[in-house]
Amino acid sequence: MSKRECSQDCAGRALAAQKQKLTGGAMDRTFIVGGNWKMNGDRKAIDEIIKFMRAGTIPTNNEVYIGVPSIYLDYVQQRKPKNVEIAAQNCYKVEKGAFTGEISPDMLKDLGVKWVILGHSERRKIFGESDELIAEKTAHALEKGLKVILCVGETLDERETGQTNAVVFRQTKAVADKIKDWRNVVIAYEPVWAIGTGKTASPEQAQEVHDALRKWIAENISKEVADTIRIQYGGSVTAGNAKELATQKDIDGFLVGGASLKPEFMEIINANVKAEK
Ligand code: 13P
Repeated sequence: MSKRECSQDCAGRALAAQKQKLTGGAMDRTFIVGGNWKMNGDRKAIDEIIKFMRAGTIPTNNEVYIGVPSIYLDYVQQRKPKNVEIAAQNCYKVEKGAFTGEISPDMLKDLGVKWVILGHSERRKIFGESDELIAEKTAHALEKGLKVILCVGETLDERETGQTNAVVFRQTKAVADKIKDWRNVVIAYEPVWAIGTGKTASPEQAQEVHDALRKWIAENISKEVADTIRIQYGGSVTAGNAKELATQKDIDGFLVGGASLKPEFMEIINANVKAEK
C-alpha cells in the first residue's frame, strides 16, 4: 500500500469509527460493489472492460469484485486492476470427481479466485437449483476458504402475493441450516422482477427488504451476524440510480449486471454516498 493510499485508508477508518460512535455503536460495513458479467463477453470485450476499470478510480475504502465466466477467470486474473477481486459465477458442492461440466472451489482457488457467486436467480430458475443445493454449495465453498456472494430474491408473482419476506427468509434459512460462520458471506438481495428489466426497486422498497432480512438474521442467526453482514442490492442498478440507493442505511453495496459491462460501472463503484457523510 502506498503512503497516499494508507493515509486515505486510515482516514477512512477514523471516519468509520466516528460514524460508529454517532450511530450508537452499529458496526461499520465496508461498501462492496460487484459486477456480474453473466454469459457475456469475449477476450476483446474483456480487454475494453479492463481498460476502463484501469483508467477509473477504485476507492480504497470499498471492496470491488467482478464475476467472470469461468473460461475467462484466468485471463482476467492476469489483467485486472490489483484492488479488484474476481468471482466465479458458480461452483459445485464437492471437491472433485465425475461431474462433467462442473468446477470445484479447489480449482477456483488454484487460479487465485477469492469469491464465488452462488444462488443467482438465473441458476435457481433456468438451471433448477434448489435452496438445498445452493446451501450445500455455499457450505462447501466456505469450507474450502472461498468467500461467497449468496443471492436471494423474490419473483414478481411472489411480491404481488405478499411473499417477499417469506421467500427471502426461506432462501437464507436453507443456508443458515448448513453453516455456522457467516464472516465470509455477503448476501445480495436481487428481486427477480428487477433483474435485466430496467425496473429498479425503489430505495425504500430495497431498504424495507434489507431491514427485514437483517432483523430475521438477528433473531435466527445472531445479532453480531446481523450487524456485520453486508447486504448488496442487485437489479437494474445504473449510474443514474446507484447514489440514491446507496443512501439507504441497510444497503451495503451493489451487484451489477448489465451496467458492469460498461464504463458507467466506475460511477457505480464510486456511488457510496455514505462515505461522504
Ligand atoms: P442487471 O443489473 O442487469 O439487472 O442484473 C442484475 C443481476 O442479476 C446481477 O447479478
